[in-house]
Amino acid sequence: MVDLAIIGGTGLTSLDGLEIVRREVVHTPFGEPSGPLTHGMLNGKEVLFLARHGYGHTIPPHRINYRANLWALHHAGIKRVIAVAAVGGIHDDLPPGALAIPDQIIDYTWGRPSTYFEDDLTEVTHIDFSYPYCDELRALLIDQCKAAGLNACETGTYGATQGPRLETAAEIARMGRDGCTMVGMTGMPEAVLARELDLNYACCAVSANWAAGKGDGSVISMAEIEENLKTGMESVRKVLQQLLSSL
Ligand code: HPA
Repeated sequence: MVDLAIIGGTGLTSLDGLEIVRREVVHTPFGEPSGPLTHGMLNGKEVLFLARHGYGHTIPPHRINYRANLWALHHAGIKRVIAVAAVGGIHDDLPPGALAIPDQIIDYTWGRPSTYFEDDLTEVTHIDFSYPYCDELRALLIDQCKAAGLNACETGTYGATQGPRLETAAEIARMGRDGCTMVGMTGMPEAVLARELDLNYACCAVSANWAAGKGDGSVISMAEIEENLKTGMESVRKVLQQLLSSL
């Protein structure tokens, strides 16, 4: 039975080389996921794919139904989730195109439904989230980056912002002082919902641009993000193919 899912972000709404076996429409108690779950085979291994922003890339980060997405994966029997995410690079080691496997998160999002432990509780529940990503899955990703000949940052702190606008240079400077090494808009509540469902969850982040005010300080264009993601997602595809053949 398939136990690994890939959630694709901006730049990865489909998986090259995925032989699609079937598409599964799932309705959840939390509403509709971003789209049907795509069951398929990649490098001879069963995998499930879900495009976080929808297959037509139409759902903005603050409108994604993260609870339905994670619940649907859990319901399909998934135990491990690799979340692919485009980020802005804050740390010098994250120029456009670079990969990182973050080990920490700071959440700056607001107003997103972010827990399953809300209503109809028999007791108030606080889950541990000291280490938000699964170390075993992170180690696997790091090893497979190396095996694919790619140099990924092996740690990093993902700062999750609300979007859909990009940040100001001052916000990024503050996030840098907070310890964030990268910024993205979808890392939360995705990671915490995975933890609430006991899913092993890790993120493969791809730098799409220098975060606001970083690099040469120029303004950020969607065209630049899309261009950088073309090469960045090529690297991610190599890592995913490598990872699946290693299982
Ligand atoms: N900020 C937030 N999210 C992002 C960025 C950014 O600069 N680039 C890609 N996703």
